[in-house]
Amino acid sequence: MPTYSQLIATGSYLPERILDNHELSTWVDTSDEWIVTRTGIRQRHIAAEGQGSVDMATRAAERALQQAGLQAADIDLIIVATTTPDQIFPSTACLVQARLGNQGAAAFDVQAVCTGFIYALATADQFLRTGAARRALVIGVETMSRIVDWKDRSTCILFGDGAGAVILQAADTPGILSTHLHADGRYAELLQVAVDESYLQMQGNAVFRMAVRALGDIVQETLAANGLEGKDIDWLVPHQANIRIIQATADKLNLPMERVVVTVGEHGNVSAASVPLALDSAAQQNCFRPGQLLLLEAFGGGFTWGSALLRWV
Ligand code: UT7
Repeated sequence: MPTYSQLIATGSYLPERILDNHELSTWVDTSDEWIVTRTGIRQRHIAAEGQGSVDMATRAAERALQQAGLQAADIDLIIVATTTPDQIFPSTACLVQARLGNQGAAAFDVQAVCTGFIYALATADQFLRTGAARRALVIGVETMSRIVDWKDRSTCILFGDGAGAVILQAADTPGILSTHLHADGRYAELLQVAVDESYLQMQGNAVFRMAVRALGDIVQETLAANGLEGKDIDWLVPHQANIRIIQATADKLNLPMERVVVTVGEHGNVSAASVPLALDSAAQQNCFRPGQLLLLEAFGGGFTWGSALLRWV
């Protein structure tokens, strides 16, 4: 019986339309200089009219399946992490399943905001380790442009749309070495879309401080659980919210920025899609070598935070 899961393929999709900081500055009181200095973001992709999370997730999944040389029917578990489903139900996972032409796989969504993909990956890993599934499709997708107040300069500059997907396969050797998940619901008001509000609200500075602390702690927790030190990590694949948060986490690990996957400049913060988009972007550029150790981490609304340590195969 397999006791591990291996990540065997990645795929992603970004909508065609690119909104750069200069264009954004034409309708909100901000500047390219402020956004780049404070966040590292230069542009973000925005879904077309009528294009939603199911469309983008399906495209990313098709690319991951193609890269793995698999058919949709080969998948027996589909987990989608999203904060921006197209409809309340059925789940995005079921709608993507139908688009892909898969029948019978277990399919459900996970809601952990920006940490959603790490939660989904950890969940799929548990299914594969116990033998409950053999091949999982794990997707992070967001249409953040739909829940952003485009008149609020403190939030609208940060977010973008897109999807990333991975395929996990049961195996006798790792693969995923460990996953670590945490949440603390006391901080809900600092980052939320309340029931009586249409838009995302965030107290950016307070979130920033919590993110730096929680991510610093979780990378140390992950190293300690595996008897490793920062120098043993080949690649940090962080959530892409703010370059300054990413740098702080890399510092905690004593990792030079050359070993950190940074896509925040091109993608902005794509919430649950950030980590799989970064992963696929680096994989496409052949950054990762078999046997290398990748540390994935994220922090987001809830608050939620989590990490996964995996060996690239
Ligand atoms: O993915 C989920 C987790 N989310 C995050 O991790 C986001 C965490 N937060 C952040 O990344 C940062 O807090 C922000 C990028 C959102 C804001 O950066 P900051 O350095 O924390 O700035 P601030 O909110 O303290 O605002 C500083 C100043 C304020 O002006 P005053 O009060 O000092 O006069 C803001 O009004 O910057 C002003 N400001 C802006 N100015 C130009 C806020 N937004 C903008 C803007 N353009 N877009």
